[in-house]
Amino acid sequence: MASRKQLAALVLLGLCAAAAAAGRELQAKKATPYAANLYEAITKAKLVTLKAAIDASGLTMAFMNPNLDVTLFAPTEEAWQRFYRDCAKPPKKAADVAKYCSLNKLLTANKQELQQFVQYMVLYGKATVEAGNDWWPKGRTFVKKPTLFNKNIMRLRYLAPYFEAHGTGRDGNVTIPNLGAGRSLLHVIDNVPTYSPLG
Ligand SMILES: *[C@@H]1O[C@H](CO)[C@@H](O)[C@H](O)[C@H]1NC(C)=O
Repeated sequence: MASRKQLAALVLLGLCAAAAAAGRELQAKKATPYAANLYEAITKAKLVTLKAAIDASGLTMAFMNPNLDVTLFAPTEEAWQRFYRDCAKPPKKAADVAKYCSLNKLLTANKQELQQFVQYMVLYGKATVEAGNDWWPKGRTFVKKPTLFNKNIMRLRYLAPYFEAHGTGRDGNVTIPNLGAGRSLLHVIDNVPTYSPLG
């Protein structure tokens, strides 16, 4: 079931066969070289909303830096649609709040808030998705990682085959892991991970 969803996402993204294999299993041992920097990877994977949000936030140059050593959780286009839709209904819990209700609202948001919103999707260093990897402490389900948004924490959960990013707000599942982008890493994720409270 998950693999059909992932395959659909891959077709949409037009990714290479190596990335496709990695996406089905979420157990690739190494990052697949995919692009020269994160901005190029986002462009290549056709993650157009994320790209527009980065441009509007003024972080374009930062994401183009090939020496940036970070991990980006990059929401799919469906993830953004869900995010906008959730805005229209009362959230089940405060943490689920979706602040921006449309692409227009997102792109015309306060620039500093938008920067923080994007920075929360980025962890310091590389968090490769793999079983028995060297950065994951043995026997732990959750690992906390600081994000570029004031080192606010994102919790990662690896419960094979699922690798999840838990924001203090919204959570998501990695659908395509380990795309190498310069010295950084990109994981495609099926929701918009957020910090709570938003703005
Ligand atoms: C990830 O996907 C699994 C399987 O569909 C689901 O049970 C789980 O709740 C999802 N996790 C998140 C954080 O969305």
